[in-house]
Amino acid sequence: MGKTALLLAFAESAESQGFLVARVTAGDEMLADIVGTIQRKGTPYIKKNPQVKGVSAGALGFAFGLTFSDEVERSFSFLNKMALLCDALEKHDKGIVLLVDEIQAHTPSLRILTTTYQHLVGEGKNVVIAMAGLPHAISSLLNDEVLTFLNRARKNRLGPLSLSAVSLYYSSVFDGLGKSISPENLARAVEATRGYPYLLQLIGYYLLEYSGNSKGITGDQTEQALASAKHDLTENIYAPVLKPLSARDRQFLQAMSKTKGPVRVTDIEKRMRTTRGNVQAYRRRLMDAGVIASEQRGELELVIPYLGEYLRREF
Ligand SMILES: Nc1ncnc2c1ncn2[C@@H]1O[C@H](COP(=O)(O)OP(=O)(O)OP(=O)(O)O)[C@@H](O)[C@H]1O
Ligand SMILES: [Mg+2]
Repeated sequence: MGKTALLLAFAESAESQGFLVARVTAGDEMLADIVGTIQRKGTPYIKKNPQVKGVSAGALGFAFGLTFSDEVERSFSFLNKMALLCDALEKHDKGIVLLVDEIQAHTPSLRILTTTYQHLVGEGKNVVIAMAGLPHAISSLLNDEVLTFLNRARKNRLGPLSLSAVSLYYSSVFDGLGKSISPENLARAVEATRGYPYLLQLIGYYLLEYSGNSKGITGDQTEQALASAKHDLTENIYAPVLKPLSARDRQFLQAMSKTKGPVRVTDIEKRMRTTRGNVQAYRRRLMDAGVIASEQRGELELVIPYLGEYLRREF
């Protein structure tokens, strides 16, 4: 809930405090993206190297600015490149903030990033990292024994926004736009978001869209906005996830949704009237599809916000 938005807020805050921020998406390109971003954003802070008799005297390892010498570019590891960049920027009082979005379970590049970070911190470099991902990706990452270092990281699980925060947010946006909304209609809209940032944005968008140029938002427009947001949530989030699944897989999810929150595997076995072996097959398929996750042994959980309510037809 709002992971990318939070990383963007981190980036803004860190930049305003003078840090150099590299915000990347986890994947094969991530290490090159980090180095490239730091070079690009850091270059303006590096004073031009003095020209000695017409020959550019780059700092050790650099050809000019933060561009590496050919040898470094070719043969230095990610760790050694990062160490050079940290040192060069440290001289200009610049710390580095690494923000990595959409972390998946461990991959070779994530392993390199993590061990590199550990080394840099060990050498006292001015660098910090924040990573974001879905809960099941994070927990499987933390279970990876090679990356035990990450277990000492501070973990923050993003829950829904409080309804009072949502209410304040809408009030201030509508006030700013000179739009009035009755307390009843505001409360309807706020409650319908369930604190889910995606719905907050969608409902807010439709409230403004349907009220057009008028000074106020009517009850009808509020109802229309809620219906459209619900429609979009179904079309954009639930349908694409559920459509490719087999009828049996969907039954499995229905069986899970009878419990709010995590469900015990033994309960699903009973509800589906099936064997442990069969449940394991569903479990694997639905996990690979990113629909369910297991954070506790013997328990399964729906990953997508409010999918349980949708399956129970409460939505
Ligand atoms: N605190 C917040 N206040 C207002 N809007 C928010 C807040 N957090 C997130 N949003 C909005 O909610 C939507 C979803 O947020 P975001 O993209 O950050 O979620 P996410 O967790 O990264 O989702 P995904 O798993 O799909 O990447 C975005 O449109 C974002 O602008
Ligand atoms: Mg995101």
